[in-house]
Amino acid sequence: MAARLQRPHAAAACLLLCCLTGGLSVPDPRLREALIQLESSMQTGGRVALTDAERRLDTRLLKMKQREILRADFPPAMHFFKARHLIRASPIFSLLQKMPKGGALHVHDFSMVDVEWLVKDVTYRPHCYVCFTDSQSIRFIFSCRWPKPLPRCSQWSLLENLRAEMGNTTDLDDSITANLTLFTDRDPEAAYPSQDVVWDRFEEAFRAAWGLVTYAPVFRDYYYQGLRQFYTDNVVYLELRALLPEIYELDGSTHDTAWTLKTYRDVTRQFTENHPDFFGARIIYTVNRGVNTSVMSRVVEEAMELQRDFPDIMAGFDLVGREDRGRPLWDFRDALSLPAQRGITLPFFFHAGETDLEGTEVDQNLLDSLLFNTSRIGHGFALLRHPVAKDLSRKRRVAVEVCPISNQVLKLVKDMRNHPAAALMSEGHPVVISSDDPAMFGASGLSEDFYEAFVGLGGVRSRLGSLKQLAINSIRYSSLTPKQQEKALALWQRKWDKFVAENAFL
Ligand SMILES: *[C@@H]1O[C@H](CO)[C@@H](O)[C@H](O)[C@H]1NC(C)=O
Ligand SMILES: *[C@@H]1O[C@H](CO)[C@@H](O)[C@H](O)[C@H]1NC(C)=O
Ligand SMILES: *[C@@H]1O[C@H](CO)[C@@H](O)[C@H](O)[C@H]1NC(C)=O
Ligand SMILES: *[C@@H]1O[C@H](CO)[C@@H](O)[C@H](O)[C@H]1NC(C)=O
Ligand SMILES: [Zn+2]
Repeated sequence: MAARLQRPHAAAACLLLCCLTGGLSVPDPRLREALIQLESSMQTGGRVALTDAERRLDTRLLKMKQREILRADFPPAMHFFKARHLIRASPIFSLLQKMPKGGALHVHDFSMVDVEWLVKDVTYRPHCYVCFTDSQSIRFIFSCRWPKPLPRCSQWSLLENLRAEMGNTTDLDDSITANLTLFTDRDPEAAYPSQDVVWDRFEEAFRAAWGLVTYAPVFRDYYYQGLRQFYTDNVVYLELRALLPEIYELDGSTHDTAWTLKTYRDVTRQFTENHPDFFGARIIYTVNRGVNTSVMSRVVEEAMELQRDFPDIMAGFDLVGREDRGRPLWDFRDALSLPAQRGITLPFFFHAGETDLEGTEVDQNLLDSLLFNTSRIGHGFALLRHPVAKDLSRKRRVAVEVCPISNQVLKLVKDMRNHPAAALMSEGHPVVISSDDPAMFGASGLSEDFYEAFVGLGGVRSRLGSLKQLAINSIRYSSLTPKQQEKALALWQRKWDKFVAENAFL
């Protein structure tokens, strides 16, 4: 590998020298070719060796991509909400859906499953109450008795009765759906004119879903359904960022954090028993970055206990919520140093650099996340503006979790071709592709984000080798032990070979 790595550099350097000393008026075409090869070999997957069948598939894929790029309505240049139907009709997308993508390493607990399932299945279950808030939002609760009024929500109705009174429930169900997701058929630029507006609606949608997904029977089904959705999208492994909230029963009794984590473990076991070709899932415990330092210390203590008691399912710890509004990591330096001070292992998977506030306290999170020895960086959207952080991330093999659709919907980038991770991919920086909150954004599993990364960020030069490398990265940069990684890679490779065999010769 090392020898192969050296060759293009050496050839280019030699040619460059010849050129400079020779003083030709027209640059040497061999030099040009060598430089093109050199650049191409540096990108994600640029040095991946392909089998004969893979080369056939690569050629097919290139033709598809060249056609896609000529389109007047090029999907990566558009807002995902407008582009979704075009993407889903694209032949590249159907191939990406079938492609074994490895692991999904950046996904949040309550945005895994299509909202349609929540509306059509969950809200039709018995004992479901709904309340319309005075700010045009919506709350739910399952209860065996009439629920108590909330501060900004005075009147609960039993959904079953409400629907019976209405007869035709289409409009109600549509407005429930609209409350649970950001996806809209309206013009997304008009619906979400600024980062503040879109983040407020984003947080409101989580509050709307809260009473549905934290009801114990739904909680289990939701997670199982979420695993099914990723499995159907040909993902074999998941690392889920989870708040581990208090889960409630019909009589109002509640369960503690350990119960919630154990439930994730049990449902994961159940799912892998029923789907032996799914590798499994692990949990990254998360807390909102809006909490104060004493709450953070308590939560980190709890995370260390959970890591000790449930080492199989627990992968580590992270902070969530809008970086621009929450506290910077440095505010929590005492709490986040507790594990190291006590010699206890608690891997960190920090969201960092999901911001365009260059130079602010929050923008410092990228470097700070590395100071705290983060295992991966969530988003890292601002990484290009931090050369030292970028260098450290590369040297320490701290992969960046790139979530293109999330960054676009939350208004950090408009045209995917301008996404900063395009530069990271062109120099082979350690990256993985993930979907963050697919249900909120109207996506499903990983395929839409892979489409944006492959067609939009990658451009024409990124080929099958890039896709293969991204899938391998998602296992190599996971929290799995080296031994588990070998097993997961073997499982993925079997699926990959089958995929290549079935699609190379069409
Ligand atoms: C219910 O209402 C929707 C929208 O108002 C309408 O499109 C649909 O045809 C109605 N369905 C029935 C069965 O009347
Ligand atoms: C949420 O539901 C309420 C009540 O049906 C509705 O008035 C409101 O427009 C919905 N919100 C969104 C964002 O669609
Ligand atoms: C921190 O937040 C918690 C919960 O919101 C609150 O009970 C506590 O008083 C706060 N502590 C400080 C020091 O502000
Ligand atoms: C980060 O890792 C270094 C080197 O292993 C160690 O000395 C340091 O204590 C760690 N810091 C934290 C906050 O975990
Ligand atoms: Zn996230």
